[in-house]
Amino acid sequence: MKNEKWYGVKFLLPYIKTYKLRIIWAVFSMVMVAITSALGAYMMKPILNNIFVDKNEAMLTLIPFAIIILFVTRGIFRFLSIYLATSIGIGVTKTIRSEMFGRAINAEFATIQNKTVGDLNAHIIQTVLNMRNVIARTLPNYLVSVMTIIALVGMILFLNWKLSLFAILFASIVILPVRYLGKRVKQHVLSAEKMISGLTDSINETFNHIDIVKVYNRTEYEQKRFDTVLEYYKEFQLKLSRYKEATSPAMEFFVSLAIASVVYFGGTLVIEDGMTVGDFFAFLTALMMLYAPIKVVTKNALVLNILDTYVKRTENILKMKQENHTLPPLDEAIKKIEFRAVSLTIGDKEILKNLSFTIEENETFAFVGKTGAGKSSILTLLFGFRTPTSGQILINGIDITTRMAPSIRDHISYVNQSAGTFNTTIQENILYGLPYDEARYAQAVALAHCEFIDGFSQKDAYKVGENGKKLSGGQRQRLALARALYKDASLFVLDEATSALDTDTENMIQESLLHIIASKTSIVIAHRLNTIKHADKVVVMSQGEIVEIGRYSEVAQSDAFKRNFGLEG
Ligand SMILES: Nc1ncnc2c1ncn2[C@@H]1O[C@H](COP(=O)(O)OP(=O)(O)O)[C@@H](O)[C@H]1O
Ligand SMILES: [Mg+2]
Repeated sequence: MKNEKWYGVKFLLPYIKTYKLRIIWAVFSMVMVAITSALGAYMMKPILNNIFVDKNEAMLTLIPFAIIILFVTRGIFRFLSIYLATSIGIGVTKTIRSEMFGRAINAEFATIQNKTVGDLNAHIIQTVLNMRNVIARTLPNYLVSVMTIIALVGMILFLNWKLSLFAILFASIVILPVRYLGKRVKQHVLSAEKMISGLTDSINETFNHIDIVKVYNRTEYEQKRFDTVLEYYKEFQLKLSRYKEATSPAMEFFVSLAIASVVYFGGTLVIEDGMTVGDFFAFLTALMMLYAPIKVVTKNALVLNILDTYVKRTENILKMKQENHTLPPLDEAIKKIEFRAVSLTIGDKEILKNLSFTIEENETFAFVGKTGAGKSSILTLLFGFRTPTSGQILINGIDITTRMAPSIRDHISYVNQSAGTFNTTIQENILYGLPYDEARYAQAVALAHCEFIDGFSQKDAYKVGENGKKLSGGQRQRLALARALYKDASLFVLDEATSALDTDTENMIQESLLHIIASKTSIVIAHRLNTIKHADKVVVMSQGEIVEIGRYSEVAQSDAFKRNFGLEG
């Protein structure tokens, strides 16, 4: 990690630029807060000199008004500065969150797979929230405090520079112990952050697999795991709070020293050198008022370093490797697919070895083989999720690496192994962003045998729950199938799409699929014999290799095939 100065600020600059006018107003308001604070201290001078010493009656009515105006003005500007900073913070973090989501979703498949959902959650939600607090609260507080210190110091210098130098000397000693504690605070702030993402991960994992947790009666175990993280978190927070607040007694001591000596030497000046009582009290008030902003500044001395850390975490997501969008699109229906000596290695694992085959127009190609044979991996290459380690994949004779991957996917209807279902209505799950067409919709639902929809009183508007947990496995698969049918792309890809169905339902769906698939190029992955009987070609895979390829009638006789279907035959 490079430790560039102003790293976080430089990062935020382009986001903040849109708010130029608001920033100007915010800074102006901060300056006004600082000036009115200093003027508040200065008021002691006329109060004492004109009212109490000179007994001036005109001033007696004037000064209370002035005090009210001064404090109301300060209140208004304080409100403005905080409100403006908050609005900038909210706006900036909205933009950054949206950008992070976009970066993550458009990143390369392999890059996304390397992140956990907890990671993405923690960064997009928690890190950005922390960043917002810095922009909306810590940073403005810090700035106002710095400005107030400048104004108050200016004030005391103006009132009596000799006495000021003396007071400043004491004030600077305060900074030393506080700086040390500030550094410890920073370390702990960062560790506490990690704890939060640990908590998120723990919640995610437990409740994603709540059925397993319950059947294995592991609720106590999970509770303990969670409590352990909580306990750590608690300790960190306590330590953090000790470091943060330990600055107070130290400061209190030095400040009392400064004030005591100013009272002594200032008093001497009043008695012997003719310093007015008003000057003295204005001075003392300003000095006392310095305490609060100095505390804020020292406590948050590392605010910029902490911002740097948040920004670097945000960049973890913003800099995820993106899919290439500069290539020309594939703007024709997918007819022919050719794999030429394609291999895929991930890490040091050879997942696919030297695959060659050609899927001709309108052909149905079936891949069979045991789990882990590499069937789904073929699809990740075809979809452009990964690029082959060697070899070439051609669609209609065009090398797919020369086309923009998302444009290839436009021509694919796909049902995945887990029958991915979104937490929304049945209809939205089927349309999945496409415009509604009544006839097409009715056809997709009928072909996928989604009769179960009629069983819900809400029909299409039935909400299926997170991951479709309010549906059965077979219902989810039929819903996913209806989605693929509705999209009606030129290439059909079914990855174990009917594995959760009973044989009767599967047969019915086979019927409907047959006449769709007949007029399209399609890929069917299955481990059930029934599913592939109608395929034009069958490929038997084992350990990343093609061990048999040919017509169903030919392949069905082979040993490799029998090995794969020995039990189901
Ligand atoms: N992202 C990945 N990183 C490393 N290995 C993987 C990854 N995805 C799949 N594999 C491995 O590749 C092999 C083939 O997996 P897959 O294509 O899903 O098999 P199938 O679909 O035939 O059951 C398996 O051994 C699996 O462990
Ligand atoms: Mg698979």
